[in-house]
Amino acid sequence: MRSRTIHILNGPNLNLLGKREPEIYGHDTLEDVARSCATLAMELGLETALYQSNHEGEIVEMIHRAREAAAGIIINPAAYTHTSVAILDALSAFDGPVLEVHISNVHKRESFRHHSYVSLRAEGVIAGFGIQGYELALRRMAVLLG
Ligand code: DQA
Repeated sequence: MRSRTIHILNGPNLNLLGKREPEIYGHDTLEDVARSCATLAMELGLETALYQSNHEGEIVEMIHRAREAAAGIIINPAAYTHTSVAILDALSAFDGPVLEVHISNVHKRESFRHHSYVSLRAEGVIAGFGIQGYELALRRMAVLLG
């Protein structure tokens, strides 16, 4: 049977979630995201594993590991969203569904945040729902995986 584990991957500076620019990203931490997603995943018959890195190459390697270990990827590539062909290429080598999450509404912000390389691969994108976006993506993942 195929894995029902969803990898939730997070890019640079998201280790500071809750402390960093709370007026934009809120007060909840990445541990709060991990906890709420794990609880919801149980309801949905899924499992979650959350990872974060400040390094582009490490995120590429996390995606490579997901090829063996994950049924789907939820990714907030943070600033690498707007710059990283390497992350796009790694995601293109992953077989399952990919959902892109942004805590803030990137379209309401600077124009350099309006373009996403990752969106070229993602089945869907959620932006501007705060950390609730991760839970919404998980619900969508359950539908996509059936
Ligand atoms: C972000 C938006 C990006 O533009 C930014 O670089 C981030 C976080 C978000 O979750 O809103 O670090 O991905």
